[in-house]
Amino acid sequence: MAALLRASSRTVSKALGDQTRGYKVAVLGAAGGIGQPCGLLMKMNPLVTELSLYDIAGTPGVAADVSHVNTGAQVKGYAGDAELGAALKDADVVIIPAGVPRKPGMTRDDLFKINAGIVAGLTEACAAHCPKAMINMISNPVNSTVPIAAEILKKKGVYDPKKLFGVTTLDVVRAKTFYAEKNGLETAKVDVPVVGGHAGITILPLLSQATPAVAMTDDVIDALTKRTQDGGTEVVAAKAGKGSATLSMAYAGALFADACLRAKNGEANVVECTYVESTVTEAPFFATKVTLGKEGVEKIHGLGELSAYEQKGLDAMMPELKDSINKGVEFAKSM
Ligand code: NAI
Repeated sequence: MAALLRASSRTVSKALGDQTRGYKVAVLGAAGGIGQPCGLLMKMNPLVTELSLYDIAGTPGVAADVSHVNTGAQVKGYAGDAELGAALKDADVVIIPAGVPRKPGMTRDDLFKINAGIVAGLTEACAAHCPKAMINMISNPVNSTVPIAAEILKKKGVYDPKKLFGVTTLDVVRAKTFYAEKNGLETAKVDVPVVGGHAGITILPLLSQATPAVAMTDDVIDALTKRTQDGGTEVVAAKAGKGSATLSMAYAGALFADACLRAKNGEANVVECTYVESTVTEAPFFATKVTLGKEGVEKIHGLGELSAYEQKGLDAMMPELKDSINKGVEFAKSM
């Protein structure tokens, strides 16, 4: 968090010097397990001058609580459909962790039935009230909710593929932590790209490209890959029916939103792994490293050189990833 704040502080004087205001960030699902800490972390971000906390209920309390933190952002809570438009009006970045989380034994795809409709409704509202916003989709199954949002935005005539992101940052955060732990490295100095999607085998950490590079046995590579893929399930099991990752996800969501804000603010070389419309593989949406700019995606990076193990993982994920994308597209088209 300290690094996040330091990074943002570097650009805050620019934000407030060059402009009459910083940025408006809206969190949809702000009273939830992810939404609450994510709202708090965004309140601590110096690039945010207006923080809009929306949920179907409970947001007045969350907003009152967060608003007492002595940082610059003005906080307002919005509850219920009638207030959604005001919550979103002219937002620069919209973070969406609205919807139900997994319980033990569930896959992310099991959430589709409930979350698809929630995401579609919220995206429709974004199209109406903040069509130029960068949308950070956290609600699962991300592999399908991002294509749903894309189709809804297309229907409304405001789709900009450069501004719609599936948040896969938690996979990167996990891969970095596990890689550093296993190899006795300083966690903050480690980088591990994670590509593909955000569910089970579609999550593919590229350990051959991790820095600093460490020689690892095939068994260790396999174990680290599986632990990254199953990181979410590890938390779901440990919470034993009380939901999925919330605190680490809020941190990851705040990191990604901060990257969007810094890029918007003119910082160069802001690079994050994220799930976007892509031609890197035959899947129409795919996560790789992406350079972010003022208008969103500036450059989608390729996969780089893959090890044989990673190539096998890439081939294996494709049918599931493409199915999840199709499912999202079909759902949105049938609405
Ligand atoms: P939660 O149940 O604690 O909170 C969800 C919130 O969404 C609740 O406050 C609920 O009232 C709200 N909500 C429901 N319908 C809404 C609507 N139409 N408009 C606005 N708000 C609405 O769940 P939690 O733990 O915060 O998880 C949220 C989502 O994030 C889940 O879908 C979960 O699977 C996903 N997730 C994604 C991760 C990722 O890496 N992308 C990691 C962990 C969770």
